[in-house]
Amino acid sequence: MVPCHDSLPRRATPLTVRGIMETAFEITQRPRRLRRSDAVRTLARETRLHPEQLIQPLFVLDRRSGEPEPIESMPGQVRLPLDRLAAECGELASLGIRGVALFPVLAAETKDAAGIGALDPETLILRAVRTVKATHPDLCVITDVALDPYTDHGHDGVLTEDGTDVDNDRTVSILCEMAVLNAAAGADFVAPSDMMDGRVGAIRKALDAAGYTGTGILAYSAKFNSAFYGPFREAVGSAAAAGTTLLGKHTYQLDPANRRAALRELDLDAAEGADILMVKPAGPYLDIIREARERTDLPVAAYQVSGEYAQIHAAARLGWLDLRRARDESLLAIRRAGADIILTYFAKEVARETPQAKDSDSGKTTAT
Ligand code: PBG
Repeated sequence: MVPCHDSLPRRATPLTVRGIMETAFEITQRPRRLRRSDAVRTLARETRLHPEQLIQPLFVLDRRSGEPEPIESMPGQVRLPLDRLAAECGELASLGIRGVALFPVLAAETKDAAGIGALDPETLILRAVRTVKATHPDLCVITDVALDPYTDHGHDGVLTEDGTDVDNDRTVSILCEMAVLNAAAGADFVAPSDMMDGRVGAIRKALDAAGYTGTGILAYSAKFNSAFYGPFREAVGSAAAAGTTLLGKHTYQLDPANRRAALRELDLDAAEGADILMVKPAGPYLDIIREARERTDLPVAAYQVSGEYAQIHAAARLGWLDLRRARDESLLAIRRAGADIILTYFAKEVARETPQAKDSDSGKTTAT
């Protein structure tokens, strides 16, 4: 028998400490029951990561063969010569990845102020698309429609004569031509990432007029002016526009402070005929992904960008974060926010770690 503590209410019969605990808390709601075992946690899990929901972005070099070039600020990511691109796509497909987003890396001497290279019928991205479609026709191939790989100033469009602005309407007409060339090369989706006004509607019309009614538009609808694009710009050599010129990308990309402006862009792109709406970056904009999901019945994609990838790697390298756990948590959060599809540099390694099971109907190996 333990003596009653002085501060506790006096009772006729002294209680044990145990007795006091039992009468003081009547706990009837016990959510921990759903977290007691791995089996129960798995059954009760609301969101899952699946390779079939992930798209791998790939950087392509203008070389037929040779060694891939590592990208320093994106550990594990490389720039691929064309022959390696085909092999890489084969590997991704065998791991259950259904889509790739291709980005051309062009030599500085091929770039100019007008981004003229973008309309060259033999430009790298078109050869890359043809290569992938010839070797892996089942993969969904997505091409970026913006001028930044082709301009020496690194902007996503052409500048006005006085160089103080990106010329919206001239840029849109170039993007339309680019989109048609990409569709002709076999791209399944073109992805305007430039944030010019009216480009989704104009591209839809141009594609339809050229007979590419089946080519889709994955619109970078809510694309923010983000510091998290830094490593990508190093990878493709478009860093000039990131702030070293008079003009930043903030005159066309969304202000990170603005939620309503993002919703307006999402609505406009849906109305102009986008097939998939995208939010970019992903992790810092989970609120926008959630709102996009609740606002539209179109699929919502999110792009976990280069800087989101780099920061997890950097912290892991310092021993400050567990790479796999931080990776999976970052991706699950994007799914939980409402993204159906995630573009992520982690796609391949997540797929590689997902157990594969035999699909008895088709005899094909599919990820579980
Ligand atoms: C360019 C483009 C960018 C990204 C995708 N397309 C960079 C930019 O707008 O400067 C960024 C992707 C990433 O950071 O992973 N139109």
